[in-house]
Amino acid sequence: KNPLKVAVAGLGTVGAETVKVLQKQANLMAARYGRTIKVVAVSARSRRDRGFAMEGIDWYDDPVQMAASADVDVVCELIGGSDGVAKAVVEAALAAGRHVVTANKALLAHHGVALAKTAESKGLTLGFEAAVAGGIPIIKALREGLAGNTISRVYGIMNGTCNYILTTMRESGRDFADVLADAQRLGYAEADPSFDVDGVDTAHKLSLLTSLAFGTQVNFDSIHIEGIRHVSATDIAFAEELGYRIKLLGIARKTASGGIEQRVHPCMVRKDEPVATVEGVFNSVVVEGDSVGRSVSIGRGAGAGPTASAVVADLIDIVASRQTPTFGIPADLLEPLPVWSMDQH
Ligand code: HSE
Repeated sequence: KNPLKVAVAGLGTVGAETVKVLQKQANLMAARYGRTIKVVAVSARSRRDRGFAMEGIDWYDDPVQMAASADVDVVCELIGGSDGVAKAVVEAALAAGRHVVTANKALLAHHGVALAKTAESKGLTLGFEAAVAGGIPIIKALREGLAGNTISRVYGIMNGTCNYILTTMRESGRDFADVLADAQRLGYAEADPSFDVDGVDTAHKLSLLTSLAFGTQVNFDSIHIEGIRHVSATDIAFAEELGYRIKLLGIARKTASGGIEQRVHPCMVRKDEPVATVEGVFNSVVVEGDSVGRSVSIGRGAGAGPTASAVVADLIDIVASRQTPTFGIPADLLEPLPVWSMDQH
């Protein structure tokens, strides 16, 4: 069988690792699916060696042109950013009839429903497992494995950078800025790390999980967002003494009045709660459903390997012809999110 041909737009931490994983796993893919997944086109801002063989790969200076005209089945958008080039790449790929796989939570938090509608109207996949908690297959879990549940709450640690910072501050007493520099060096932080530390990245991810959990349109603007900038080493030490850990949580839940509340803020979590024990770059997502009860997942939330692992999983869904609507149900059927406010409660 012909290989599944893939173009990769963006060769940062995640893009370069995705190409490497695909090259490394070619034999495994062939054995399992009878078809390999082959990167045949790439585009990035600068043309330098990124540690993978360029043999058989065409270089494009313009990722939008690549998305529109390269002879491929799938375009991986690994550039990032909620507008601009990333959005243009995804739109050009869908317009040209290519499946899209992306790690871009900001783009989907703002334009996810519109892009899903375009993809679904053309019978194309828009995969985004890598957009939320790379090392935890939470998109598939909500869309498929837990689909038989009425979900009352989904919450957890969704930003590896913040969890790494809070953990390291507690363990070493080092200050915030110093530890943030480490997280940047390790490839965990966003291009603009204020998205991490101010809670925006967690909110992007939460908005996607809310849609999947409750069958509602993605609604980023109604999220209450507070980050971890003002959390001091002293706060962390006092919490510890009282038997708590400070964690940045994203929380979405059904309220008594029928609304859906979404919020992101630092929380005092009792040390014996599962999410309190999740440290460093690890993320944890908890889903509460009527049949399953409480389901807790843990995995690395940032960095090259875990994110590339999720990108490759979406490519495998395409090579294995497993297709589900982007947000679990057709995007046309997603209900507006019933926004909750204090006076409704
Ligand atoms: N900056 C993000 C984080 C990367 O730290 O979790 C993964 O989305």
